[in-house]
Amino acid sequence: MKYYLMDKNTEIALIEYDTNLNVISKIYKKINFEYAPLNLYANQNRKDFNLEKEMNRWFKGRGIPSWRKDLERLLKNLNVKFSDELLDKAYGLSLSDQYWINPAENKLKWKDINFFTNDFEYKAFLDASILNKSSRNISLMTPNNTTDGMIQKAWIIEKGKRKLIKGTFYNANQEPLNEKLTSIICRYLGFDYCNYEIEVLENKLVSKCEDFVNENTEYITAYDILQTEKKSNNISTYEHYIKILEENGIENARINIENMLLIDFLVMNIDRHLGNFGVIRNVETLKWEKLAPIFDTGEALNCDKEISFMNFKDGNGRFFGNDKKPFKDYLKYIKNIERFNISCKKKVIEQWSKMLKDYQIYTGMQDERIKKLVEGLEYRFNLLGKYIEKNK
Ligand SMILES: Nc1ncnc2c1ncn2[C@@H]1O[C@H](COP(=O)(O)OP(=O)(O)O)[C@@H](O)[C@H]1O
Ligand SMILES: [Mg+2]
Repeated sequence: MKYYLMDKNTEIALIEYDTNLNVISKIYKKINFEYAPLNLYANQNRKDFNLEKEMNRWFKGRGIPSWRKDLERLLKNLNVKFSDELLDKAYGLSLSDQYWINPAENKLKWKDINFFTNDFEYKAFLDASILNKSSRNISLMTPNNTTDGMIQKAWIIEKGKRKLIKGTFYNANQEPLNEKLTSIICRYLGFDYCNYEIEVLENKLVSKCEDFVNENTEYITAYDILQTEKKSNNISTYEHYIKILEENGIENARINIENMLLIDFLVMNIDRHLGNFGVIRNVETLKWEKLAPIFDTGEALNCDKEISFMNFKDGNGRFFGNDKKPFKDYLKYIKNIERFNISCKKKVIEQWSKMLKDYQIYTGMQDERIKKLVEGLEYRFNLLGKYIEKNK
């Protein structure tokens, strides 16, 4: 079937989408191709770049990934066989960007179908995704067909606001607490962050955050940004990334990236892969507005480890494509460490301790784990404090 690939109200290309195979089988013509996903636009003329293949990779990448926790169960609850089947169910619409596919024979208007301004049914999907409940009449007209990441999640609407609910992954059920802790630290330090709250849904601990994209913007990952310009051999991926951001008019790029590194160091975030940070771009003007706020810091503070293996002294995180970067090296990237005032340490640790105890009945954490987590955070703060002192 013929579709226009759209960015909000703008036609990007006329394509053939095979609704049985869930693939883009032809690109008939490019229209306003500068509105295409950044990676496709930037690389379209490269000899070794197969646009059709890459457009498919991108489109498939909008779906729920194969590594989503309990994916099979979710798909069963939704009555579909493969997550690819969901890709076109709601025209490919998402709440993290403005791309969609518009049937060429019967064109629709973005204002009538987008999920930023039009309500959607979410309760059944939330139940199916987070609470493992199936329902016979589950609506697939939702932005939940196009969420990324391995944690179970669902978009909901609360007082008109679009919010993302995320579950837990590891046995310790620590991720929502980590997200909230990071929000608290970011607030004290004055960083730009996505605020996470903790919620309990039928005895299950989840985190909840507001959409940081709105009807005029999109989130672009660092991965895509790094694809737009070849890196010369004499600079690091880190510097290359900052250079691209600065060239595209992002203000305070370095400062904000340093802030993210500081947080990741402090809470030992092991999941800052290139999809977990990026840029907010305006989809009307294509202006790069700012860095996306710090988000997805749930996989931190040894949440993946059994108590006896917990270690807050050292460890490795992900750093600009390097999957094993010692945390101790993170701080070397920060140019002026003196600018950080961590006098919030005591208050943060008190709140962390309280949070761990308050939600213990839901996480099922042993007292020993809680003790280690509190001491662990204190240790990280002290480590940072010493570094700041030393480098004053
Ligand atoms: N608050 C948000 N606003 C808009 N998009 C978001 C928000 N949080 C997450 N996303 C999008 O959803 C994806 C998955 O969310 P993330 O928090 O990274 O989940 P996971 O923990 O499963 O990796 C992100 O990579 C991003 O594209
Ligand atoms: Mg993520």
